[in-house]
Amino acid sequence: MKKRALVLTGGGDCPGLNAVIRGIVKRAAQTKDWEVVGSIQSFDGVLQEPTEIINLTDKVVAGIHYQGGTILGTTTKGGPLAWPVKENDGTWSFVDRSDEMIRKLKNMGINAVINIGGDGSQRISQTLFEKGLNIIGVPKTIDNDLSATDYTFGYQTAVQIATEAVDRLVTTASSHNRVIILEVMGRDAGWIALSSAIAGGAEICLIPEIPYEIPKILEAINKRIIDGKGHVIIVVSEGAKQKGGEVLSAKSDEIGNENLKLGGIANKLLNDLKDAGCEVDMRETVLGHLQRGGVPIAFDRVLATQFGVKAMELAIGGVFGKMVAYNHPDVVSVPFLEAISKYHYINPQSALVKTAKGIGMSFGD
Ligand code: F6P
Repeated sequence: MKKRALVLTGGGDCPGLNAVIRGIVKRAAQTKDWEVVGSIQSFDGVLQEPTEIINLTDKVVAGIHYQGGTILGTTTKGGPLAWPVKENDGTWSFVDRSDEMIRKLKNMGINAVINIGGDGSQRISQTLFEKGLNIIGVPKTIDNDLSATDYTFGYQTAVQIATEAVDRLVTTASSHNRVIILEVMGRDAGWIALSSAIAGGAEICLIPEIPYEIPKILEAINKRIIDGKGHVIIVVSEGAKQKGGEVLSAKSDEIGNENLKLGGIANKLLNDLKDAGCEVDMRETVLGHLQRGGVPIAFDRVLATQFGVKAMELAIGGVFGKMVAYNHPDVVSVPFLEAISKYHYINPQSALVKTAKGIGMSFGD
């Protein structure tokens, strides 16, 4: 009988997920003694009755490497450690179904689980590993905020999309002599904002790692206007905050979604600048989920494929409790504990920030 690997995608989607799945399946097919199945909507496919598990054959994954999203579906809600249950009075409680799930996976003949997900998903992986599950992680997030890997796939695609947005905003901003504020994703890490600001030639970039001051931003806007350049592009990361201020966030009202919803900083900034006396016309654009949708760029397809092949090789070699990672030029594996212990933030003294300052970009600091 063939050995079985179960693959799932968890957390927010990200361009490149399908390329990982394809890499896993193609590598498994070379061995002749492994087969791969997929769980629909993360672990939900295993936990729900009837289960929703699909066979991932060569035929199923053919040509999916350039498709966005995930053919397995994903979710940011619930999971085996906190499964939502609706009580008779209409309230929700959460139960730990991890032991039951591990038993179920054993009965299904699963020899290895490959969990493709962000830090939240890899925390679940670590807990399941401690409970005896043969599990491997693959890191994904457009935020690029995991310290164990040089890059996560999906990030470069998000940067490309944000850069194209800056390019488009430049032409309309310059036609009208306006300030246009572009809000991008990234949670507590400013990678998408800083990279797209440099690539797109924005004048001002606001990131979580460097708290800003409104008078400094106003000064940068006014200098630009005095210099005879009528427009200003500000790229602001959703997690950016004023010096001494708080990140704008709200609790999610989706049952089982523990993540805070970030967003709204572009609008706040516009109003704060107006209140501070900015006389230039201003507009805001929130890029939102456009950053996560659509096809991955080539870099992310390559990285995702490398991660998929490496994850399957770990399974074949019987190496569990680890997450694959990119350590240029190698694809390596790191223990989950190491992978989830530290985030990857922008160092304000880094070469990238110095480059941005070197071309005159203001961080409002
Ligand atoms: O972590 C990836 C990310 O896209 C963040 O940049 C963003 O804050 C969040 O997910 C959005 O999550 P959701 O899709 O649940 O709105």
